Amino acid sequence: MGNLILSVEDGVGVLTVNRPEKLNALDMDTIAELSDVVRKIEEDDSVKCVIVIGAGEKAFIAGADISSMKELTPVEAQEFSRRGQMVIRAMTSSKKVYIAAVNGYALGGGFEVALGCDFIYASKNAKFGFPEVTLGILPGFGGTQNLPRVVGKGVARELILTGKMVDAEQAKDMGIVVEVKDSVSELLAFSKDVASRITKNGLLGVAFAKRAINDGFSMSEEEALRYENSLFGVVFSTEDAKEGLAAFVEKREPEFRNK
Ligand code: COA
Repeated sequence: MGNLILSVEDGVGVLTVNRPEKLNALDMDTIAELSDVVRKIEEDDSVKCVIVIGAGEKAFIAGADISSMKELTPVEAQEFSRRGQMVIRAMTSSKKVYIAAVNGYALGGGFEVALGCDFIYASKNAKFGFPEVTLGILPGFGGTQNLPRVVGKGVARELILTGKMVDAEQAKDMGIVVEVKDSVSELLAFSKDVASRITKNGLLGVAFAKRAINDGFSMSEEEALRYENSLFGVVFSTEDAKEGLAAFVEKREPEFRNK
């Protein structure tokens, strides 16, 4: 993995986008690597929760790589967008939990990767925005669909159509960021703590809940409730559900085996 580093400790993976000299901008190779690593994580039982962060103190991901985009033909541009969208869909449909630890600029494709994570924490120096329209283009890795689902169409239109940036506190006020930390090291420590707490939950329940939220969003309320209802039934077929409910009644800690 040239531009990505994955380190795993006690079930928590830290996935670092490592092109600091280009503020971790995503070129075609990095997108391909991201796609590979997300697929590997999905199959690797030793990784239960993943934190995505950028190398250095300045950027999470400053967007798609503008120098390489400049040369794209329309067909290549569509393919670039399709691959970016596929990686983000692989994250949103993953059974693993992804936490974005936004430690600086999260612009364009970087903001889209953060939105592809299950939730976003940020350091005080984080900046979010979709500058695409200032470059004469538009977001292409799902931003026009995923941002309105988080903040509503009105706020999303303002951000996407102006191309303006917002800081971590403003992003928190908009509901994009859940928690803001003073420094990048605090952000990472906090994210690891939360990730570690998630690994101790019944991970089948976690994965089903994520599926109910993400898949249910594009269904009618009636269909989505039926979907939640059916997952609720299925989870009762797992050993983890029996263990978790019994452990509470027996006043002990559960020992989940993800079965
Ligand atoms: N694509 C390619 N290279 C990028 C990049 C991107 N999205 N973002 C930053 N870089 C590169 C810069 O070209 C520069 O490389 P160089 O040293 O070889 O010239 C390096 O990263 C450092 O960036 P620089 O612009 O010098 O840092 P800065 O602190 O002055 O500005 C930003 C930071 C984020 C405001 C500025 O880099 C920027 O506007 N980047 C583009 C953001 C964008 O439009 N993203 C959406 C793309 S669709």
